[in-house]
Amino acid sequence: MPNIIDIKVIRDDVTKVKTPALIVNLFDGVKNPGGATGAVDKALGGAITQLIADGEIKGKSGELTLIHTFGKIGPARVLVAGLGKQDKFTANTAREVIGSAARFLRGKGVTSACTIAHGAGIAGLDPKAAGQAIAEGAILGIYRFREYLANNGDSKDLNDLTIVEGDAAKIQALKDGVTLGKTISEGVCLSRDMANEPANAMTPTRMAQIARQVADAEGLEVDILERKDMEALGMGALVGVAKGSHQPPKLIVLKYKGDPSNPDSVLGFVGKGITFDTGGISLKPALGMENMKGDMTGGASVIGTMKVLAKLRPKINVTGIIPATENMPGGEAQRPGDVVRAMNGKTIEVINTDAEGRLILSDAMCYAREKCGVTRIVDIATLTGAIVISLGRVCTGVFGNNQEWTDKVMASGNGVGERVWQLPMFDEYKDALKSNVADMMNVAGNRDAGSIVAAKFLSEFAGDTPWVHLDIAGTYRSEGDKGWQVKGSTGGPVRTLVNLALSEAK
Ligand code: BES
Ligand code: MN
Ligand code: ZN
Repeated sequence: MPNIIDIKVIRDDVTKVKTPALIVNLFDGVKNPGGATGAVDKALGGAITQLIADGEIKGKSGELTLIHTFGKIGPARVLVAGLGKQDKFTANTAREVIGSAARFLRGKGVTSACTIAHGAGIAGLDPKAAGQAIAEGAILGIYRFREYLANNGDSKDLNDLTIVEGDAAKIQALKDGVTLGKTISEGVCLSRDMANEPANAMTPTRMAQIARQVADAEGLEVDILERKDMEALGMGALVGVAKGSHQPPKLIVLKYKGDPSNPDSVLGFVGKGITFDTGGISLKPALGMENMKGDMTGGASVIGTMKVLAKLRPKINVTGIIPATENMPGGEAQRPGDVVRAMNGKTIEVINTDAEGRLILSDAMCYAREKCGVTRIVDIATLTGAIVISLGRVCTGVFGNNQEWTDKVMASGNGVGERVWQLPMFDEYKDALKSNVADMMNVAGNRDAGSIVAAKFLSEFAGDTPWVHLDIAGTYRSEGDKGWQVKGSTGGPVRTLVNLALSEAK
């Protein structure tokens, strides 16, 4: 596990607090800052207003200006973080800003810092939401994966961050927000750690082991199905993908029962757990194939989410299901043209062995509905390269068979700053999967609307259960550091899933 920064809340005067660095802020276009930033400016004899007047500080989003105070006030340095336009400010802005600011200070060798409660002043953000955003931004923004570096990378870290607030009435809410944000971030970090691990370490067996550890530590029910169990259940699609690998496949099931008096209502999260995707016999090109270690991010995000829910204990039943296997081109591997039968009896002609995600998810979705009594589903999968062509790396693709459920999932994503965008599911898209020899093919004969066709394939296994599919192939990893994201795994949409479960809870 990474170093999780210690976050505290204290009541103090920001101009007096002894700290190597204090983070204050400025909205775009403000010439005379008020609140805590104004108090610091006054104590520094107008240094910040001077820098604004000189045009050096503008308050633009992403702007960071470091001022040394040379003993004039408590903090040795003041970092002015631009918040952008005030009318666009939300908790998501605060999370982004604190992520960048924390990383910036670490880069300057700062190991301990203070911050004001961004947004809880004139921006009118609820102090609990502000505390949560600050905890999430700081923990996620300074996350690093250094397992395999000599001496774990050795360099100094930002070890603690203290929120300094003058208003006694806001302290408890800020603390509650910090505690919540920390719990959620630990789930994101677990998911990131799993997806950043190389595939020689993060095998299906290792995923199952981690799921079991989480279940034992947090009090979840856990069930790990082996290959023979899958065969007995008729999961020909999942077993077919696993055939090319020497690693045994696992179907991981985690159950959180927060609403035992309502056993007929179960939210199901189904996460793709391909621990490495070579493409199988339809082998992928070498360039960038190393990123296919992250093809289990959907599954990792489900494990991270279940850990958070077990800690927060909302009144709702949630089951997490992760079909986990490698997709390898071994001697036993399935071939293009092979026909497999999924758990619900539908036959599939495997035209392209690289379209393996939909195969393993189809059996996992059948299992969710038939064996776990799941009444609404969200699946999370790095499913198609085509979604990166459609939406880039800016947002997750959303598909669904029920608009009300789809709207709820999208609202959960938007609410936590994990962007989503819905694509259409017109019936005509299904025609592309017509097979001569089986009920359907696993890919179309051309590349048209690849992400939608994949979603139409999955919809065949959702039946009449409200279902949403999140295609995270564009958002499962980040190519650089930005706000709360750092280069490498994003951790998947853990915060979206947690928010959804919390808002669905009674
Ligand atoms: N895991 C890949 C999708 C992917 C691509 C994830 C890029 C992350 C980044 C998936 O299993 C896959 O190979 N999809 C194929 C489908 C095609 C054969 C219809 C693809 O997108 O090329
Ligand atoms: Mn593939
Ligand atoms: Zn894949």
